[in-house]
Amino acid sequence: MTAAQADLQIDRPATADGAALWRIARDSEALDLNSSYSYLLWCRDFAGTSAVARDERGEPVGFVTGYVRPERPHTLLVWQVAVDGAYRGRGLAASLLDQLAARVHREHGVTSVETTITPGNTASERLFASFAERHGAALEREVLFPAGLFPDGPHDPEVLYRIGPLSV
Ligand SMILES: CC(C)(COP(=O)(O)OP(=O)(O)OC[C@H]1O[C@@H](n2cnc3c(N)ncnc32)[C@H](O)[C@@H]1OP(=O)(O)O)[C@@H](O)C(=O)NCCC(=O)NCCS
Repeated sequence: MTAAQADLQIDRPATADGAALWRIARDSEALDLNSSYSYLLWCRDFAGTSAVARDERGEPVGFVTGYVRPERPHTLLVWQVAVDGAYRGRGLAASLLDQLAARVHREHGVTSVETTITPGNTASERLFASFAERHGAALEREVLFPAGLFPDGPHDPEVLYRIGPLSV
């Protein structure tokens, strides 16, 4: 058992966890904060392709949200990853990703992961580069959404990370 898992449990989100996921995303000050409604909906409809880490009281302290791409049914798109500030740097995000990848491989036959990262988000770049290394997978990068596509003011480009095939 890793340090990250010693007093934490990783499982699927329940609808009621949506509020806590919204708060963690808000407090991260790094993620685009979506509406609280979207986190509630996600926890209802995409629980099977998402994961949450809970403290000893069952409160979420970190999460990964994702979905299986409708036109690429063996690809998991990781939408957001965040860990509460007090729990960072102990391998929790890595464990969340590893456990989710194993689950979606088992249940959906997923063999590759995609995510987008804004340039300069070093923690996130490292998280996904290490994930690729641990799973013996190639990692390709290309700009998916250039800055000019965003309608709501200045926004960094979103770079697509394509990781696969995974040994899970
Ligand atoms: C990104 C984030 C989820 C990482 O969570 P975490 O639990 O601290 O990450 P881990 O401890 O599992 O570390 C995973 C890897 O990232 C590296 N890492 C973590 N934080 C880092 C930092 N601030 N700077 C550089 N590398 C970092 C770790 O060293 C580790 O790499 P390694 O396996 O090669 O040693 C967390 O910092 C966070 O919530 N950030 C704000 C939200 C965000 O930016 N999300 C990502 C975009 S979707």
